[in-house]
Amino acid sequence: MRKLDGQVAVITGSGRGIGKATAMLFAREGASVMVNDIDPAPCEEAANEINKAFPGKAACCVADITKGEGAQKLMDAAVEKFGKMDILINNAGITRDAMIHKMTDAQWDVCVNISLKGAFNCIRAASKYMRHPNHNGRIVNVSSVAGLMGNVGQINYSSAKAGLIGMTKTVAREWAAFGIRCNVVAYGVVDTRLTREKETGDVVEGEQVGIPKKIRELMIGAMGGKTLTPEEAAKPILFFASDDSNFITGNLLNISGGAYM
Ligand SMILES: NC(=O)c1ccc[n+]([C@@H]2O[C@H](COP(=O)([O-])OP(=O)(O)OC[C@H]3O[C@@H](n4cnc5c(N)ncnc54)[C@H](O)[C@@H]3O)[C@@H](O)[C@H]2O)c1
Repeated sequence: MRKLDGQVAVITGSGRGIGKATAMLFAREGASVMVNDIDPAPCEEAANEINKAFPGKAACCVADITKGEGAQKLMDAAVEKFGKMDILINNAGITRDAMIHKMTDAQWDVCVNISLKGAFNCIRAASKYMRHPNHNGRIVNVSSVAGLMGNVGQINYSSAKAGLIGMTKTVAREWAAFGIRCNVVAYGVVDTRLTREKETGDVVEGEQVGIPKKIRELMIGAMGGKTLTPEEAAKPILFFASDDSNFITGNLLNISGGAYM
């Protein structure tokens, strides 16, 4: 018996990294998945890859979830394509690191707008389809240990990720009456473009992402010398999205290999 048979999931920022691995895992578990990204090419490629493995299980909706209308377009597209909406994964996020005294307004805004406001936009947009009696919906927000213990150079990111924890608990309380559960996962270092060595890393919208080599070594050292793969990171999201976590709501799962405890 698959864990998500007959379910419909929307996963933001699922053209790459953790979101993409989650979309593939959800399809393997029987869900229909609306893949979303702001970047059209990875969004379409991820949906194509899933459809190759699990025919008809994925579609792609290019939308910017920092905009209210982008978030609504995404939820509407999922329901139009698959007929309903059961699961929302607020995964889209980005890093824009700088020390406090050097951080620009633009770096603050982009980080907070994607991780925190984007999640709010999506939850509000999903209310049209989820906020109904006995809906039995599930929402999973993707946070970071930076939101739990802070991180040098990440005042924007750690603030946004900490905010997601409060958001999770509010949704859990406000929508419990509709049978909707809302939980949050907080990762240590997962191997994606956001955490590769900054010196040789990807440039995203004009800014180098990644972690400086020396700091990266320290962070991975605190996780017993290992990073998580996106496929490993997808499993706790599946746990919160499936019946395996029935009756668990407003909870945080820290997945950091002991970096935070
Ligand atoms: N990689 C890690 O170590 C790590 C650790 C803790 C938390 N996280 C969180 O996990 C989530 C996924 O990160 P990842 O490492 O897979 O990164 P990633 O960059 O591989 O994937 C994130 C995706 O989100 C998309 N995106 C960005 N802005 C968007 C927008 N406005 N609308 C729609 N899509 C948008 C990006 O284009 C990208 O494809 C993020 O919230 C990140 O903060 C990651």
